[in-house]
Amino acid sequence: MLSAIIDLLDCPVCQGDLDIDESSVICDRGHTFDIARQGYVSLLSGSAGKLHSDSVAMVSARERVLGSGLYEPIGDAVVELTEGAVTLDVGAGTGQYLSRCLDGQGPDARGVGLDLSKAGARAIARAHPRIGSVIADAWQRLPVRDDSVDTVLSVFAPRNVAEFARVLSPGGALVVVTPTPRHLAEIVESMGMIGVDPAKPERIGNTLGAAFTRTERISVEHTMTLDRGLVADIVTMGPSAYHLSADEITDRAAALAERVDVVCSVTVSRYEAQTDRTR
Ligand SMILES: C[S@@+](CC[C@H](N)C(=O)[O-])C[C@H]1O[C@@H](n2cnc3c(N)ncnc32)[C@H](O)[C@@H]1O
Repeated sequence: MLSAIIDLLDCPVCQGDLDIDESSVICDRGHTFDIARQGYVSLLSGSAGKLHSDSVAMVSARERVLGSGLYEPIGDAVVELTEGAVTLDVGAGTGQYLSRCLDGQGPDARGVGLDLSKAGARAIARAHPRIGSVIADAWQRLPVRDDSVDTVLSVFAPRNVAEFARVLSPGGALVVVTPTPRHLAEIVESMGMIGVDPAKPERIGNTLGAAFTRTERISVEHTMTLDRGLVADIVTMGPSAYHLSADEITDRAAALAERVDVVCSVTVSRYEAQTDRTR
């Protein structure tokens, strides 16, 4: 619920404090944002323009895949590296990772699930009573107060390094999940997916290295036996769905064996902001 985290947010127009007034979120200067019937608020400061965000079909596919337990070891590693009572998940998707983290951190834990997608925001709002669901663009200033967050999660999601550093409290943790080039490699070609660029880990290291130091790293790799429905869901929940139609995904999955073994391979890293950071 938004009331659990409203003190962590600030106004996207004037950066003033926010409060809840019946069905709106309002700042000291009167900037007002409607709370949707499903419990989320949009704090977009302008139009999201041409940015991609996830559709209802993508969010539903992700709920099924995460609900199947196939990515459970990734969630375990994320929970292990999460610390403190306040977690911000940027590009939170369905809110399932954030929800697990709050359960892992105990009854005082609370979290902000931020995503650009309306379908995602709806799922995030119902994921956990101590999650507040906010629509915002990860590439803009985040509507979150300076130094207010103990852990920022970035799970297969956009990484705005300067904003992560700004909202994290001193000594706070940034937990990043990124796929390795082996991730889903067995089905990349047959399903017409976008593969992982082998230079990606180095690129991420370079981007984060400007403001953060890596303090821990967990490799998660396991083989998943998938039926055609789960293969289609895994493709549908990822960025490949932006360039493949639903029919194309179904047709390609139908041409596969009834069951296929596919490797899940990701790195889960914990970073800490460098102490000499300047704002
Ligand atoms: C690959 S999904 C990962 C979702 C979730 N973290 C998970 O692993 O289940 C990427 C997420 O980032 C969101 N996203 C994409 N661009 C965004 C942006 N500019 N600002 C905020 N969220 C964004 C998408 O809507 C989607 O929910």
